[in-house]
Amino acid sequence: QTETTMLRFLTRNWRNLLFPVVSFSMRSASSGTKDRLKLANKVAVITGSTNGIGFAIARRLAQDGAHVVVSSRKQQNVDQAVAMLQREGLSVMGTVCQVGKEEDREQLVAKALEHCGSVDFLVCVAGVNPFVGSTLETSEQVWDKILGVNVKAPALLLSQLLPHLEKSGQGSVVLVSSVAAYIPVSNLGAYNVSKTALLGLTKTLSMELAPKNIRVNCLVPGVINTKFSQVLIKDTDFGDHVKRLYGAQRVGRPEECAGLVSFLCSPDASYITGENIVVAGFSPHL
Ligand SMILES: NC(=O)c1ccc[n+]([C@@H]2O[C@H](COP(=O)([O-])OP(=O)(O)OC[C@H]3O[C@@H](n4cnc5c(N)ncnc54)[C@H](OP(=O)(O)O)[C@@H]3O)[C@@H](O)[C@H]2O)c1
Repeated sequence: QTETTMLRFLTRNWRNLLFPVVSFSMRSASSGTKDRLKLANKVAVITGSTNGIGFAIARRLAQDGAHVVVSSRKQQNVDQAVAMLQREGLSVMGTVCQVGKEEDREQLVAKALEHCGSVDFLVCVAGVNPFVGSTLETSEQVWDKILGVNVKAPALLLSQLLPHLEKSGQGSVVLVSSVAAYIPVSNLGAYNVSKTALLGLTKTLSMELAPKNIRVNCLVPGVINTKFSQVLIKDTDFGDHVKRLYGAQRVGRPEECAGLVSFLCSPDASYITGENIVVAGFSPHL
């Protein structure tokens, strides 16, 4: 086991030497202290990670020693996120991946393997809500988009990464739901349903993948201050709704979600799988 780990480490560092164009930061990759970090020499693929919660998770996993592959729909956002994290000395590369597109998912997997040689963690953060209104007035096209991106894409991406996570021997998958899964937000019907489906997907996949030593858990954020939630946060009625229904006394920060994901990927969580874990402040109704 020790020899295999050493071989993997050496192979990765050889790759870095042979392909210097690779966007990983060499500073942290070659640092001795990095090997003592809890996610040292692990590789994490994170969708929807150029902004908000995903970006905070990317930064945190990299700070904890992982090589991180960030991704999102827009090249410009990927470039900015990679540049910012590399400036902090973190081992990060990036590629475009609109998770609803099969070819993009394939490219994400291919790029991660090409640059890192293996994948240990998959964190599926990308989620959309293109429609505000009545559930029964939601068009078929909108249903397909929401369920396709929020629910189907994580499962399909995971199926492509499965052999690699299995090879890792310590594979960990983290899905991202929402408190809207438990307490629906009005006018976000299809989104609420998609987030509830993720709770079930977590339970089902954790059972199926336990024999392969792959753990599957789910981060369930409350209202977190990101671009995605600005419309809600600025709506004073919604502020009252958050306090009344969720019991939350304040809006959370993306960084307050990231530590849990790092823990769930780490050996400290080796006996934790199939859990939907709420990060929403004080939440007596959840
Ligand atoms: N903020 C909250 O209050 C809250 C609460 C509960 C759950 N969540 C969930 O947390 C996740 C992240 O939300 P956030 O608040 O961090 O949003 P955000 O700040 O708007 O960031 C979204 C990130 O995802 C990327 N993205 C969007 N659609 C994508 C797609 N189809 N494929 C790949 N990447 C995509 C965006 O970059 P590009 O524009 O470049 O694609 C961006 O990097 C979502 O699943 C959301 O449902 C958020």
